[in-house]
Amino acid sequence: MAKSKQSTQLLLGPTPAALIASGYGAVQNIITLAWVGVVNSSPPMVSISVRPNRHSYDMIKKSGEFTVNIPREDQVDIVDGCGTVSGRNLNKFEHYNLTAALGTLSYAPMIKECPISMECILKHTLNLESHAVFIGQVISSYVEEEIVTEKGVIDFERCRILGFCSGSYLRTVPLNLKLGYTLKK
Ligand SMILES: Cc1cc2nc3c(=O)[nH]c(=O)nc-3n(C[C@H](O)[C@H](O)[C@H](O)COP(=O)(O)O)c2cc1C
Repeated sequence: MAKSKQSTQLLLGPTPAALIASGYGAVQNIITLAWVGVVNSSPPMVSISVRPNRHSYDMIKKSGEFTVNIPREDQVDIVDGCGTVSGRNLNKFEHYNLTAALGTLSYAPMIKECPISMECILKHTLNLESHAVFIGQVISSYVEEEIVTEKGVIDFERCRILGFCSGSYLRTVPLNLKLGYTLKK
């Protein structure tokens, strides 16, 4: 297959278009981030890349906490809205009718309406040229009951997670294939 050279574009995707919630004092905020990843298993850790000019950057730095909330594809309006307006000018929880649900953390709420939420404590910060990479330890994870099977297993095929890559929102479609299926062929 012929490939065309695309400069140095970052073509690692799709990634989930995640909603990161933070809080400090009485203020709570949400930012949309596509640059998110899993970086360690034991202890479980995730990374989020945030530009220092974001309102959320200061809140995460000051509180040392954030939550990662994974939206469904039908929540794309919220995802786009939370990623195009700053919390300095809008209370995004109120505007999008979202419920801030405080779990174990002191300030950062989870977003009740998202099917998946993880509470994170900030452990490391890597200041790169354009973005700060915040690495958080996941201290608790929650999933909507509809995604959990009768046997207690999380089944992502029951949930349409919203993907994002290179400026486009993408649908995730199940292939109905489980890890290791080739071994059984
Ligand atoms: C789909 C999508 C993905 C985004 N990914 C990132 C990202 O990875 N890092 C980042 O700093 N900003 C990202 N943004 C931009 C921020 O979400 C946006 O600047 C937001 O309004 C900042 O909110 P805040 O000032 O309330 O923190 C993304 C926006 C969208 C719509």
